[in-house]
Amino acid sequence: MTSPLLELREVTKRFGGLVAVDRLSVHVDEGESLGLIGPNGAGKTTAFGILMGEQRPDSGRVFFRGEDVTRVPTHRRVARGIARTYQIPRPFGEMTVLDNIRVGMMPDSVRRLLTERPPEGADREIVRNVGFGEREAAMYPGQLSMGELRKLELARTLATGPEVLLLDEVFAGLTRGEIAQLSELLCEERRRGMTSILVSHDLRSLSPLVDRVVVMSFGAVIAEGGFDEVLGNPLVQEAYLGQA
Ligand SMILES: Nc1ncnc2c1ncn2[C@@H]1O[C@H](COP(=O)(O)OP(=O)(O)OP(=O)(O)O)[C@@H](O)[C@H]1O
Ligand SMILES: [Mg+2]
Repeated sequence: MTSPLLELREVTKRFGGLVAVDRLSVHVDEGESLGLIGPNGAGKTTAFGILMGEQRPDSGRVFFRGEDVTRVPTHRRVARGIARTYQIPRPFGEMTVLDNIRVGMMPDSVRRLLTERPPEGADREIVRNVGFGEREAAMYPGQLSMGELRKLELARTLATGPEVLLLDEVFAGLTRGEIAQLSELLCEERRRGMTSILVSHDLRSLSPLVDRVVVMSFGAVIAEGGFDEVLGNPLVQEAYLGQA
């Protein structure tokens, strides 16, 4: 049997007395698009932090291609092909859109800088792929709408040459039109074979983009399966209602 591309196995993360992630096991297979949903505070963003190595789990392990990467630092995980976006976009405010994307492409070590320069024009290709024109490429993040900021966040992530994308609340703060545009981009990445985990509260927008859904509540998985099946699950309905 082949290993999942990326996996959390029995991971627990506490913040003081609060158990943010509670013996959580989640995996995504190569080429799969997984939806990770659950009410506010369920632990979705914390799970991403642990997958990226930004946060150290109290117990449990992280595997990439079957290899234990629990102690591998974030920049090495990025070099191996794991990349994430943030719920609140984090561009470099003093740099243009194009330069923000170029930063994502910078090799992570001097050795790679000498041997693996990014191909000429690759930065502009990403600019085009996410639907930016020359005008936006020359703009600064402060001049962008929320929809454009989320596209920049995706572009910066794509610039690292990822094999798996972890997308946190990609649709938050966007108009219907912007959601449709971004969904099209994500569909295109999926057609190209990209593996991804998408976190979103906008279940209607998420549904056509994912093969499978995992529902978290209080740090643990409470349901998993196809979208309709999962949303019909009383435990899931209760978890979402409890939030209202
Ligand atoms: N750095 C931190 N210090 C203390 N508590 C934290 C920290 N990060 C997260 N938490 C707490 O851990 C729990 C899980 O938070 P997390 O942000 O992972 O949830 P989430 O599912 O992403 O929620 P949302 O849907 O609102 O983004 C919450 O109770 C949150 O308040
Ligand atoms: Mg979150």
